[in-house]
Amino acid sequence: MDFIPYGKQTIEQEDIDNFVDTLKSDFLTTGSKVNEFEQLIYERTNAKYCISVSNGTAALHLCALALLEKDDKVLTTPNSFIATSNSILYAGAIPIFVDICPDGSIDLDICEEYLKKDKSIKAIFAVSFSGKILDRKKLQYLKNTYNIKILEDNAHTMGVKLTYSDLSIFSFHPVKHITTGEGGAIVTNNIALYEKIKMLKNHGQDDKHQMHHLGFNYRLSDISCTLGISQIKKLDLFIDARQKIAKKYDRAFKNSIIKPLYSYTNSSFYHLYVVTIDFSTLDITKEELFIKMRQKKIGLQLHYKPINKQPYYRNLAYGEELTPNMDKYSHECVTLPCFPLLSNEEQEYVIKSLFEIIND
Ligand SMILES: Cc1ncc(COP(=O)(O)O)c(C=O)c1O
Repeated sequence: MDFIPYGKQTIEQEDIDNFVDTLKSDFLTTGSKVNEFEQLIYERTNAKYCISVSNGTAALHLCALALLEKDDKVLTTPNSFIATSNSILYAGAIPIFVDICPDGSIDLDICEEYLKKDKSIKAIFAVSFSGKILDRKKLQYLKNTYNIKILEDNAHTMGVKLTYSDLSIFSFHPVKHITTGEGGAIVTNNIALYEKIKMLKNHGQDDKHQMHHLGFNYRLSDISCTLGISQIKKLDLFIDARQKIAKKYDRAFKNSIIKPLYSYTNSSFYHLYVVTIDFSTLDITKEELFIKMRQKKIGLQLHYKPINKQPYYRNLAYGEELTPNMDKYSHECVTLPCFPLLSNEEQEYVIKSLFEIIND
């Protein structure tokens, strides 16, 4: 059996054919494929506007610049890829790390406690962690009650509808639901944010090449968008396949020491399938489990080490926040392989290997 990673893209002949067609066309960078891909995204997400960008981190960067001023305080989660809170720092603003719920997502009740106490907080940067859609009603309530901005980092929830949040971003990195190699997108219903982000993405220029902001080149090429177009058409199939895998894991781990992060729900797009294991009751450490699984050619992953405890953040005096759930979770969490091309046979091998090693 080949090595089984925790995540991987699905590239089919149709993707390759479309890609080659674009390579043979007149436009490799900003041609018609960019608009076509953006249209498919805003239609899919019920948003008015979409801006494609070179990756998810660029999307977060531009959103942070459009939403925030220097020294603004922003509530965010320690349980994410570092790019989520880094984007707050890019804008010269101040991330505040809030503890998580048992399902791995930011605890919006604790966010409310912060908002009640500190009226100067300007925004929440929240992540639908692992693919489970955040509580949108609660987000809308917080937005309206405390007059704050909401950015949804939907890198794990490609295609989720835009509801009340100001901005929502996606990533098209190969382990995500759809891929363009590197790539990302921003959706919004707010025309002012759309216009500003569109300029920032293209050197801060308007359509008449007048430069109004110090912008960047964060464009996504026609070549990449071509791949995005054929991929997004298969998004539902990809999500279905991931949900089937999640259901099967859930069944296999029932009444065992391996606990799914949350019981199966079709409100999760299962970008990640995460379990928690109480290693204090076992003879094996988490590191040993990772090594032994790798020896069996299975790649486990850790999502995530708390961002606030990263060395860079510690140097900024973060790391000692009261986040008991995050601390416990980060010791216990293990991400298992979950991607559309994972075969039944491979998944059964992963399950068997896990039990063998744990019960050894
Ligand atoms: C939650 C989250 N936000 C942002 C990103 C950044 O996306 P990209 O890798 O496309 O820059 C990722 C990617 O891993 C992510 O998982």
